[in-house]
Amino acid sequence: MVDYTIRRMNKGDIKQLSELEKVCFSVPWSEQSFAEEFENDLAVYFIAEQCGNLIGYIGFWRIIDEGHITNIAVSPDFRRKGIATALIGTAVKYAKTLNLVLLTLEVRKSNLAAQHLYRNFGFVALGERKDYYTNPRENAVIMTLTLGEQNEYIDTGD
Ligand SMILES: CC(C)(COP(=O)(O)OP(=O)(O)OC[C@H]1O[C@@H](n2cnc3c(N)ncnc32)[C@H](O)[C@@H]1OP(=O)(O)O)[C@@H](O)C(=O)NCCC(=O)NCCS
Repeated sequence: MVDYTIRRMNKGDIKQLSELEKVCFSVPWSEQSFAEEFENDLAVYFIAEQCGNLIGYIGFWRIIDEGHITNIAVSPDFRRKGIATALIGTAVKYAKTLNLVLLTLEVRKSNLAAQHLYRNFGFVALGERKDYYTNPRENAVIMTLTLGEQNEYIDTGD
């Protein structure tokens, strides 16, 4: 069991966020990108932190009554311990307090781990965006979750 807390992002997280990006993505967001997100009134970011170390994050943009998840990542040393599940759960709860009705996201077609995680929450695949990603070039799967009474994590076991 890992001891960690989840809280809103603050300015002091920007450097660690960009470091985490480098180990999680082939096209990582820069410090500048996170600095812009911090100033973006429509952006909501949550951080998972253990003893001052940033071990995961999730972000979404509020667009009218929908939320668009920009990214989620967990440090490789802390994976398969439920941290991404806790981050999505936090984002879902917070989105509901904002009266959002839908969450959407894009995920690499080959990223079956993330798709599995999202499906456990009830996200469904709606279609694909062709060549959405670079390095390597790849289609995105578009997934959505309708927010309502039930948005519990269910291990689909597939
Ligand atoms: C995808 C990611 C965020 C998952 O983080 P995590 O904290 O390990 O996820 P959780 O421990 O909450 O996993 C919950 C469930 O998701 C599924 N899952 C997570 N990682 C998986 C993997 N590598 N393979 C298969 N299923 C996986 C499992 O059903 C898992 O439940 P289980 O561990 O009880 O089997 C993490 O692997 C990551 O940061 N990857 C790189 C960045 C990335 O791909 N982000 C998504 C961009 S769209």
